[in-house]
Amino acid sequence: MLEKPSATDTEILDLASRSGWPDDLRVLIARFPREQWEGHANLGSMAQFWLSRHVMFRELSGAIGDTTAQFRNGTLAAAEFPRQLVPRLQFLLQQLNVHHQIEDLHYFPIFRAAEDRLARGFDVLEGDHHAIHADMAATADTANALLRALSGDNDTLIRCSDAYAKASGGLLKGLIRHLDDEEDLIVPLILDRGEDALGVAHHG
Ligand SMILES: [Fe+2]
Ligand SMILES: [Fe+2]
Repeated sequence: MLEKPSATDTEILDLASRSGWPDDLRVLIARFPREQWEGHANLGSMAQFWLSRHVMFRELSGAIGDTTAQFRNGTLAAAEFPRQLVPRLQFLLQQLNVHHQIEDLHYFPIFRAAEDRLARGFDVLEGDHHAIHADMAATADTANALLRALSGDNDTLIRCSDAYAKASGGLLKGLIRHLDDEEDLIVPLILDRGEDALGVAHHG
């Protein structure tokens, strides 16, 4: 009998299937639960600005999800759909690109070096960025196909609408999971050490 290869760690913590961090990556969030974040003395301007970007991503995701649902259930006119969708989706994709670059190149290396016990979590978050980028590409492609199909026959329109809903739904779901887990890993580290000691403080 062949033994089934066991799932690798990264597969277990795959963005599409995980529901939060395992215990060994909860060592700091266990000490600094979310209820303590707001108003904490060590929650400096870097963390506040960074969290506000996450709030913006969640709001954009909600608006894009609502627009898509309204278009698909007929409460948003087809002519109005591109005007509602395109600027928001464009902005989300652009801003996510910038945000992930700053995290991958600047913040993650600092945080990874600061706390060995969380290093694996940053590998997972970096992997998330790759998964999210694949979903962003699929969302952009299917959105463009749907926009073209708005002036075509009904069968094509339905097929393109389904494909876009599936791609964008996957993107938004993964993104929300990622934002939550990223905050659960990073904010407790900032509260534990302080932004100055970590070398991430905003100055000037
Ligand atoms: Fe991220
Ligand atoms: Fe982020």
